[in-house]
Amino acid sequence: MDQFIHRLVILIAFGGLLIAYKSEAQSGSSRSQLDTLLQDYGYQAFVRPRTGVFYDGTAPANLSGIKISVVRLRSGSLRRKGVHSFKEFDIPVGLIVQPYVERIVFVYQNLGNWSSVYYPLPGFTYLAPVLGLLIYDAANLSAKNLPELDFIASKSPISINFTNAAAVLNGMTPQCVWFNLDGLPEFRELMSENVCSTYRQGHFSIVVNSTGLAPSPSPSGGPVSGLSPGPSPIPSKSHKSKVWKIVGGVVGGFIGLILLSLLLAWFLIHRQNRKVAEMEHQADVGEALRMTRVGSTQAPVATGTRTQPILENEYVA
Ligand SMILES: *[C@@H]1O[C@H](CO)[C@@H](O)[C@H](O)[C@H]1NC(C)=O
Ligand SMILES: *[C@@H]1O[C@H](CO)[C@@H](O)[C@H](O)[C@H]1NC(C)=O
Ligand SMILES: *[C@@H]1O[C@H](CO)[C@@H](O)[C@H](O)[C@H]1NC(C)=O
Ligand SMILES: *[C@@H]1O[C@H](CO)[C@@H](O)[C@H](O)[C@H]1NC(C)=O
Ligand SMILES: *[C@@H]1O[C@H](CO)[C@@H](O)[C@H](O)[C@H]1NC(C)=O
Repeated sequence: MDQFIHRLVILIAFGGLLIAYKSEAQSGSSRSQLDTLLQDYGYQAFVRPRTGVFYDGTAPANLSGIKISVVRLRSGSLRRKGVHSFKEFDIPVGLIVQPYVERIVFVYQNLGNWSSVYYPLPGFTYLAPVLGLLIYDAANLSAKNLPELDFIASKSPISINFTNAAAVLNGMTPQCVWFNLDGLPEFRELMSENVCSTYRQGHFSIVVNSTGLAPSPSPSGGPVSGLSPGPSPIPSKSHKSKVWKIVGGVVGGFIGLILLSLLLAWFLIHRQNRKVAEMEHQADVGEALRMTRVGSTQAPVATGTRTQPILENEYVA
């Protein structure tokens, strides 16, 4: 019986972890949902598509302010020739797509005034909109929910020229920020004025650290006012409330699980006591006893581990 309760506790703890992991993953999922939606809307821009031609797509009406563009290319010619000036991106020769497919589609995203809604960076101010460059298989241009393919610039990096970046206040150092598909920000130096570089796919922008700046009242309205229709530096209320919802959900879930396990333990101990009493009674009566096992529960085993990209960050500048 002790063993049974032991297993039960393990099972419940595992369940709790699973719930926590799931809500963790959900915070990143609005971005991947956006990527999925924009892939779908981007592909709709291909009407009798020609290879190598840039097409501007239309974002859904509820996301107005976001711009998307697509281009379809053969992997081979992409690798040999690169793509010159696909919006802000300049893609050099030597780009390798993994896994290999014959033709690919680049989906370009300009998140405009939605930048800090989907990519909030507390303590930093965006000087340019968040731009995304993602790559998909072009085999079926009606396909939805396509997974992103990976790519790596094997010779020189892709450069991103943020032509409309806001001017920096003196004394502040702008930085490039890169969000990989896991959504974690990494900061880099600019290559030159308003130019960032990358070897990998993801989302990019230019920011300044405004940590020391944010609370001081500035008569001119701070560095953001110059950027119009720029992203706001402050994470939106709805994002904050979403975070609280997730935290609340996790905590609530754990408390619920603990209560449930206490209840179950109480029930089992109670039943055990009753059984012992019954056995004592039957022993008194002199009957032969036949013991039965109380269940044969097994704790589940986590099978899936998240696959890691094959190539590591050593390529990254
Ligand atoms: C916007 O509309 C699309 C369908 O047109 C829907 O799938 C998506 O969830 C909506 N997104 C937001 C942020 O409301
Ligand atoms: C962005 O601007 C468009 C109009 O250009 C507006 O409809 C939309 O609500 C704005 N989005 C945000 C998050 O403010
Ligand atoms: C392409 O994708 C669409 C939507 O998922 C599907 O209905 C269609 O059968 C696919 N076509 C091919 C040739 O696989
Ligand atoms: C970036 O774009 C600006 C304006 O179009 C141009 O003057 C500048 O030379 C470009 N920088 C690079 C590194 O291409
Ligand atoms: C931003 O600046 C503040 C104060 O200047 C500093 O304490 C903080 O570490 C900086 N944050 C990053 C991520 O560089």
